[in-house]
Amino acid sequence: MKIDVLTLFPKMFEAFKEESIIGRAIKNKKVEINIHNIRDYTLDKHNRVDDYSYGGGKGMVLMIEPVKRALDSVRTKDSLVIMMTPQGEVYNQKKAYELSKYKHIVLLCGHYEGFDERIRSLVDLELSIGDYVLTGGELASQVIIDSVVRLIDGVIEKDSHLNDSFNNNLLDYPVYTHPAEFEGMKVPDVLLSGNHKLIDKWRYEQSLEKTKNKRPDLLKKEDD
Ligand code: ADE
Repeated sequence: MKIDVLTLFPKMFEAFKEESIIGRAIKNKKVEINIHNIRDYTLDKHNRVDDYSYGGGKGMVLMIEPVKRALDSVRTKDSLVIMMTPQGEVYNQKKAYELSKYKHIVLLCGHYEGFDERIRSLVDLELSIGDYVLTGGELASQVIIDSVVRLIDGVIEKDSHLNDSFNNNLLDYPVYTHPAEFEGMKVPDVLLSGNHKLIDKWRYEQSLEKTKNKRPDLLKKEDD
Protein backbone atom coordinates (compact mmCIF):
# COMPACT_ATOMS: atom_id res chain seq x y z
CA MET A 1 0.00 0.00 0.00
CA LYS A 2 1.04 3.55 -0.69
CA ILE A 3 -0.09 6.49 1.45
CA ASP A 4 0.45 10.13 0.52
CA VAL A 5 -0.26 12.80 3.12
CA LEU A 6 -0.82 16.46 2.20
CA THR A 7 -0.14 18.74 5.15
CA LEU A 8 1.18 22.14 6.17
CA PHE A 9 3.12 20.54 9.05
CA PRO A 10 5.27 17.71 7.66
CA LYS A 11 7.49 17.61 10.76
CA MET A 12 4.57 16.22 12.75
CA PHE A 13 5.07 12.94 10.84
CA GLU A 14 8.81 12.44 11.44
CA ALA A 15 8.76 10.36 14.65
CA PHE A 16 5.47 8.77 13.63
CA LYS A 17 7.10 7.26 10.52
CA GLU A 18 10.15 5.98 12.40
CA GLU A 19 8.81 4.28 15.50
CA SER A 20 7.29 0.93 16.39
CA ILE A 21 5.01 -1.02 14.05
CA ILE A 22 4.66 1.75 11.45
CA GLY A 23 8.45 2.21 11.28
CA ARG A 24 8.91 -1.54 10.83
CA ALA A 25 6.15 -1.78 8.19
CA ILE A 26 7.93 0.93 6.17
CA LYS A 27 11.31 -0.79 6.54
CA ASN A 28 9.79 -4.12 5.47
CA LYS A 29 8.16 -2.43 2.46
CA LYS A 30 4.62 -3.32 3.52
CA VAL A 31 3.71 0.34 3.15
CA GLU A 32 5.21 3.47 1.59
CA ILE A 33 4.30 6.73 3.32
CA ASN A 34 5.14 10.05 1.64
CA ILE A 35 4.57 13.39 3.31
CA HIS A 36 4.02 16.45 1.08
CA ASN A 37 4.01 20.06 2.19
CA ILE A 38 1.00 21.84 0.62
CA ARG A 39 3.05 25.04 0.78
CA ASP A 40 5.38 23.61 -1.89
CA TYR A 41 2.49 23.68 -4.37
CA THR A 42 1.47 27.32 -4.17
CA LEU A 43 2.12 29.62 -7.13
CA ASP A 44 1.81 32.67 -4.88
CA LYS A 45 5.09 34.56 -4.56
CA HIS A 46 4.70 34.75 -0.76
CA ASN A 47 3.86 31.02 -0.55
CA ARG A 48 0.42 31.75 0.83
CA VAL A 49 -1.82 28.77 1.42
CA ASP A 50 -4.59 30.47 3.39
CA ASP A 51 -6.60 33.67 3.22
CA TYR A 52 -9.42 35.56 4.94
CA SER A 53 -12.95 34.21 4.74
CA TYR A 54 -15.23 35.93 2.17
CA GLY A 55 -18.06 37.61 4.06
CA GLY A 56 -15.88 38.17 7.12
CA GLY A 57 -15.35 36.11 10.24
CA LYS A 58 -12.29 35.24 12.22
CA GLY A 59 -9.76 32.64 11.21
CA MET A 60 -8.01 31.79 7.97
CA VAL A 61 -9.30 29.48 5.28
CA LEU A 62 -7.16 26.97 3.34
CA MET A 63 -7.13 27.94 -0.36
CA ILE A 64 -8.18 25.56 -3.12
CA GLU A 65 -5.37 26.31 -5.57
CA PRO A 66 -2.35 24.80 -3.71
CA VAL A 67 -4.52 21.89 -2.54
CA LYS A 68 -5.65 21.12 -6.12
CA ARG A 69 -2.07 21.27 -7.39
CA ALA A 70 -0.81 19.02 -4.58
CA LEU A 71 -3.60 16.52 -5.20
CA ASP A 72 -2.96 16.50 -8.96
CA SER A 73 0.68 15.61 -8.31
CA VAL A 74 -0.09 12.45 -6.29
CA ARG A 75 -3.48 11.21 -7.47
CA THR A 76 -3.85 8.26 -9.88
CA LYS A 77 -6.85 6.20 -11.02
CA ASP A 78 -6.30 3.85 -8.05
CA SER A 79 -6.30 6.58 -5.41
CA LEU A 80 -8.84 7.11 -2.66
CA VAL A 81 -8.62 10.76 -1.58
CA ILE A 82 -9.73 11.40 1.99
CA MET A 83 -10.15 14.78 3.64
CA MET A 84 -9.73 14.89 7.43
CA THR A 85 -12.48 17.02 8.97
CA PRO A 86 -14.72 16.97 12.06
CA GLN A 87 -17.62 17.22 9.59
CA GLY A 88 -16.82 13.83 8.00
CA GLU A 89 -18.22 10.35 8.47
CA VAL A 90 -17.13 9.07 11.91
CA TYR A 91 -14.27 6.59 11.60
CA ASN A 92 -14.41 3.08 13.07
CA GLN A 93 -12.81 -0.37 12.82
CA LYS A 94 -15.07 -1.42 9.92
CA LYS A 95 -13.84 1.56 7.91
CA ALA A 96 -10.24 0.67 8.84
CA TYR A 97 -10.75 -2.79 7.26
CA GLU A 98 -12.27 -1.20 4.14
CA LEU A 99 -9.35 1.22 3.75
CA SER A 100 -6.76 -1.53 4.26
CA LYS A 101 -7.86 -3.04 0.91
CA TYR A 102 -6.87 0.04 -1.15
CA LYS A 103 -3.64 0.28 -3.15
CA HIS A 104 -3.29 4.03 -2.68
CA ILE A 105 -4.72 6.41 -0.10
CA VAL A 106 -4.25 10.17 -0.08
CA LEU A 107 -4.95 11.98 3.20
CA LEU A 108 -5.60 15.70 3.09
CA CYS A 109 -5.02 17.54 6.38
CA GLY A 110 -6.43 21.00 6.97
CA HIS A 111 -5.46 23.56 9.55
CA TYR A 112 -6.79 27.02 10.45
CA GLU A 113 -10.50 27.76 10.39
CA GLY A 114 -11.32 25.30 7.64
CA PHE A 115 -11.09 24.32 3.98
CA ASP A 116 -12.47 26.43 1.15
CA GLU A 117 -15.80 24.65 0.60
CA ARG A 118 -14.88 23.96 -3.07
CA ILE A 119 -12.06 21.63 -1.92
CA ARG A 120 -14.81 19.14 -0.98
CA SER A 121 -15.49 18.59 -4.69
CA LEU A 122 -11.90 17.29 -5.12
CA VAL A 123 -12.09 14.44 -2.57
CA ASP A 124 -13.73 11.00 -2.50
CA LEU A 125 -14.45 10.83 1.21
CA GLU A 126 -14.49 12.99 4.35
CA LEU A 127 -13.52 11.34 7.64
CA SER A 128 -13.71 12.47 11.26
CA ILE A 129 -12.00 10.56 14.08
CA GLY A 130 -14.60 11.66 16.63
CA ASP A 131 -16.91 14.41 17.78
CA TYR A 132 -14.30 16.92 18.95
CA VAL A 133 -12.27 19.54 17.13
CA LEU A 134 -8.49 19.24 16.68
CA THR A 135 -6.24 22.09 15.63
CA GLY A 136 -5.63 20.26 12.35
CA GLY A 137 -6.03 16.98 10.50
CA GLU A 138 -2.47 15.72 11.16
CA LEU A 139 -3.18 13.71 14.31
CA ALA A 140 -6.42 12.46 12.77
CA SER A 141 -4.57 11.23 9.67
CA GLN A 142 -2.03 9.46 11.90
CA VAL A 143 -4.89 7.67 13.63
CA ILE A 144 -6.15 6.49 10.23
CA ILE A 145 -2.68 5.40 9.06
CA ASP A 146 -1.90 3.56 12.29
CA SER A 147 -5.18 1.65 12.36
CA VAL A 148 -5.04 0.76 8.64
CA VAL A 149 -1.37 -0.23 8.39
CA ARG A 150 -1.63 -2.77 11.23
CA LEU A 151 -4.31 -4.57 9.16
CA ILE A 152 -2.11 -4.98 6.07
CA ASP A 153 -1.08 -8.61 5.57
CA GLY A 154 2.25 -9.36 7.24
CA VAL A 155 2.44 -6.22 9.40
CA ILE A 156 1.30 -7.91 12.61
CA GLU A 157 0.22 -11.50 13.21
CA LYS A 158 -3.28 -12.00 11.87
CA ASP A 159 -4.42 -13.55 15.17
CA SER A 160 -3.59 -10.29 16.93
CA HIS A 161 -6.07 -8.23 14.99
CA LEU A 162 -8.74 -10.90 14.57
CA ASN A 163 -9.18 -10.72 18.34
CA ASP A 164 -9.22 -6.93 18.48
CA SER A 165 -11.84 -4.99 20.36
CA PHE A 166 -14.70 -3.98 18.02
CA ASN A 167 -14.46 -7.06 15.81
CA ASN A 168 -17.95 -8.64 16.08
CA ASN A 169 -18.95 -5.54 18.02
CA LEU A 170 -17.32 -6.90 21.17
CA LEU A 171 -14.62 -5.40 23.36
CA ASP A 172 -11.46 -7.38 23.93
CA TYR A 173 -11.37 -10.01 26.70
CA PRO A 174 -8.93 -9.44 29.61
CA VAL A 175 -5.38 -10.76 29.25
CA TYR A 176 -2.73 -11.52 31.91
CA THR A 177 0.97 -12.34 32.03
CA HIS A 178 3.47 -13.35 34.75
CA PRO A 179 3.34 -13.41 37.72
CA ALA A 180 0.31 -15.65 38.37
CA GLU A 181 -0.28 -13.71 41.58
CA PHE A 182 0.65 -10.10 42.39
CA GLU A 183 -0.11 -8.51 45.79
CA GLY A 184 -3.06 -10.85 46.24
CA MET A 185 -4.44 -10.31 42.71
CA LYS A 186 -4.66 -13.70 41.00
CA VAL A 187 -4.83 -14.68 37.35
CA PRO A 188 -8.15 -16.54 36.81
CA ASP A 189 -7.65 -20.31 37.28
CA VAL A 190 -9.15 -21.17 33.89
CA LEU A 191 -6.26 -19.45 32.08
CA LEU A 192 -3.78 -21.70 33.89
CA SER A 193 -5.83 -24.85 33.21
CA GLY A 194 -4.46 -25.62 29.73
CA ASN A 195 -8.03 -26.46 28.60
CA HIS A 196 -8.42 -24.42 25.41
CA LYS A 197 -12.09 -25.10 24.94
CA LEU A 198 -12.81 -23.75 28.40
CA ILE A 199 -10.45 -20.82 27.87
CA ASP A 200 -12.20 -19.84 24.60
CA LYS A 201 -15.61 -20.03 26.32
CA TRP A 202 -14.39 -17.94 29.26
CA ARG A 203 -12.90 -15.33 26.92
CA TYR A 204 -16.10 -15.02 24.91
CA GLU A 205 -18.17 -14.62 28.09
CA GLN A 206 -15.75 -12.00 29.42
CA SER A 207 -15.91 -10.05 26.14
CA LEU A 208 -19.68 -10.08 26.26
CA GLU A 209 -19.78 -9.03 29.92
CA LYS A 210 -17.26 -6.23 29.40
CA THR A 211 -19.19 -4.94 26.38
CA LYS A 212 -22.51 -5.04 28.28
CA ASN A 213 -20.99 -3.03 31.13
CA LYS A 214 -18.78 -0.57 29.26
CA ARG A 215 -20.25 -0.19 25.76
CA PRO A 216 -23.82 -1.52 25.62
CA ASP A 217 -24.33 0.61 22.48
CA LEU A 218 -22.05 -1.79 20.53
CA LEU A 219 -24.37 -4.74 21.16
CA LYS A 220 -27.27 -2.87 19.58
CA LYS A 221 -25.39 -2.29 16.32
CA GLU A 222 -26.31 -4.68 13.56
CA ASP A 223 -24.75 -3.19 10.48
CA ASP A 224 -21.05 -3.65 11.28
N1 ADE B 1 -9.65 18.02 12.00
C1 ADE B 1 -10.02 18.69 13.12
N2 ADE B 1 -10.75 17.92 13.94
C2 ADE B 1 -10.86 16.70 13.33
C3 ADE B 1 -11.51 15.47 13.68
N3 ADE B 1 -12.20 15.33 14.81
N4 ADE B 1 -11.40 14.45 12.82
C4 ADE B 1 -10.72 14.59 11.66
N5 ADE B 1 -10.11 15.72 11.28
C5 ADE B 1 -10.16 16.76 12.10
